[in-house]
Amino acid sequence: MPGPGPEGYDAAPFVPEKADLRRLREAAAGCRGCPLYRDATQTVFGTGEPSARVVLVGEQPGDQEDRRGEPFVGPAGGVLKRALAEAGIDPAEAYVTNAVKHFKFERQERGKRRIHKAPGLREISACKPWLASELRLIDPEVVVALGATAGKSLLGPSFRVTQQRGVPLPLPVPDGAGEGGQEGEGAGALVATIHPSAVLRADAAARAEAYAGLVSDLGVAARLLRG
Ligand code: URA
Ligand code: SF4
Repeated sequence: MPGPGPEGYDAAPFVPEKADLRRLREAAAGCRGCPLYRDATQTVFGTGEPSARVVLVGEQPGDQEDRRGEPFVGPAGGVLKRALAEAGIDPAEAYVTNAVKHFKFERQERGKRRIHKAPGLREISACKPWLASELRLIDPEVVVALGATAGKSLLGPSFRVTQQRGVPLPLPVPDGAGEGGQEGEGAGALVATIHPSAVLRADAAARAEAYAGLVSDLGVAARLLRG
């Protein structure tokens, strides 16, 4: 999604030019591009090697990720790890990140529990410059969009997981990629699938099928990597 978000939410002023991933991560810690930084504990930036061949994009950090400062270290991360292994994707070859880098939540009335709230288009669009910079630096062969938020960030607001999952799609070159970069199609492929937490949310009867679908879609990404 090109351009600054509505209401002026935009991470771009905080993204350093000509930075490597380490420098990018440092700068992201101070991002104030949208209001989500206010209530969250910290920015949760991506983790992995700049040489990664595949980038996995989630939605936003969850409760545990927010506390620990790393993506996919909670229950959804457990599902993802298992599914990657089954699909034959080496976690060491994967860079893991999120479309939105701060945890969005609501506090339960009375009680301290923080309830996950899905990020809106405003926050997805505001945070996109970080994801775009990660992708530009890593230049992976395959990007996996885990769920609707990642899909919307990468392919636009009309993205629908149910209609676009499990098939290689052209990966748009991120807006503002490189100097004089233009929106267009790059060399990489994008594969969309459900979010691993959808497996956890599915009722007992639907869970096995949801998980098998995730593994099957990740298998499409794995085959692309094997070329
Ligand atoms: N869900 C996500 O989308 N990302 C995380 O990092 C954790 C849970
Ligand atoms: Fe910046 Fe993204 Fe955090 Fe908003 S969610 S403050 S744009 S890093």
